[in-house]
Amino acid sequence: MRLKTTYIIGVLLIIWASFIYFTFINRPLNITESPENIDSQLNVLEGGIDEQFKHNREMINKLHTFLEHKKRNKMKNESSKQIKTQEHNGFVIPILVFACNRVSVSRCLDQLLQYRPNPDQFPIIVSQDCNHKETTDVINRYGSQVTLIKQPDQSDIEVLPQEKKFKGYFKIARHYGWALNQTFFNFNFDAVIIVEDDLEVAPDFFEYFTATYPLLLEDPTLWCISAWNDNGKIGLVNENNPEQLYRTDFFPGLGWMLTKKLWSELCTKWPKSYWDDWIRQPNQRKERACIRPEISRTKTFGKIGVSNGLFFEKHLKYIKLNDLFVPFTKMDLSYLLKDTYDREFVLKVYQSPVVSYQELKEDKIVYDGPVRIVYHTKDAFKRNAKMLGLMDDFRRACSIFQSGVPRMAYRGIVTFFYKKRIVHLAPSFNWKGYDLSWS
Ligand SMILES: *[C@@H]1O[C@H](CO)[C@@H](O)[C@H](O)[C@H]1NC(C)=O
Ligand SMILES: *[C@@H]1O[C@H](CO)[C@@H](O)[C@H](O)[C@H]1NC(C)=O
Repeated sequence: MRLKTTYIIGVLLIIWASFIYFTFINRPLNITESPENIDSQLNVLEGGIDEQFKHNREMINKLHTFLEHKKRNKMKNESSKQIKTQEHNGFVIPILVFACNRVSVSRCLDQLLQYRPNPDQFPIIVSQDCNHKETTDVINRYGSQVTLIKQPDQSDIEVLPQEKKFKGYFKIARHYGWALNQTFFNFNFDAVIIVEDDLEVAPDFFEYFTATYPLLLEDPTLWCISAWNDNGKIGLVNENNPEQLYRTDFFPGLGWMLTKKLWSELCTKWPKSYWDDWIRQPNQRKERACIRPEISRTKTFGKIGVSNGLFFEKHLKYIKLNDLFVPFTKMDLSYLLKDTYDREFVLKVYQSPVVSYQELKEDKIVYDGPVRIVYHTKDAFKRNAKMLGLMDDFRRACSIFQSGVPRMAYRGIVTFFYKKRIVHLAPSFNWKGYDLSWS
């Protein structure tokens, strides 16, 4: 830029010098001529000087305009940089996509690339286990749009004979441990959003995480943001309320964000298997909650793999994937901070009238607002959950880890939507905490 300025000023000076040369030097006065001639020559000279002044003024004006323009441009550049960092809120969060041997990872990558608002703010890292060549080829086709890393330890994992059919879960845990170490300790990011190769994402997936990240940083009683609602089936969510978010004591996973701080705490004791049930245990959770949406921002499309196909057919297939863009970053989400939430949400739950499942099902309630179904025992919880179509399991059947937290519960309360109203399946107000023996 400096060179260009010098060049332009140089060219203008040369033009100016040539003008002076042609006006004065190239046309010397001939004083040997008659007074009349001198008179007219003086007139010419006067005119020339006038013209010269005019020309100088024009040139000075041109230089001014040029410098003004340059200054304005620079200011514009600087302010556009400011806007950019403001849009960023100064943070960069990678999306870590876990891949193994499913070429359909392209479906997930296509959607991430389609909805990603800014490649600099959300770099995509694909971590591949399994050395499956066709899948590597598919990922490589994305070129510099994604960064491919490969889990190097392909050694066999020794498991007990009765766990042979669950070996996949051991490989997944090993892969997670390695890839999260890479993300946080090698690439040195402060937070990451984890996605698996069989997930579709909603149009406002990035907007949701951008808006909730500050909550994760500010509220020490939060340890994750999840895009998933385990009870988010069509018919159990309010499709007119995609902006509604909740806290949950259950770790939902399936498109979730964690910070380096949390990983530093978990990485040294990371389990060999069933990491998601392990993370839900009180020793890891330490009474922290996640944010989850009313309507899922992810949906799984794959049924091949370690999680069983029956579960997909019976349940996952019916999860509603949000299809509207909610401008979360322009909304006040402070209602999700623990103090406010515990005061306002919990109060609303226990102020709502108690109804029975029969009354609810038969739509006989004259009152319009939210209602509550009360449970006191594990069996009552399970019975009601089953009748209502909620998830009634607490963990993977094969896993050894227990937490006693019903899916999507907060303070034992499972909130969902049923026949056009909010329903809370809730324990008594003086609830004493989760019971580890519930499973
Ligand atoms: C402003 O930025 C553009 C590209 O963003 C660049 O081409 C231009 O030279 C910059 N102008 C100044 C004055 O820095
Ligand atoms: C991840 O890093 C931690 C801390 O350096 C280390 O203790 C742990 O063994 C690593 N895990 C894996 C799977 O590499």
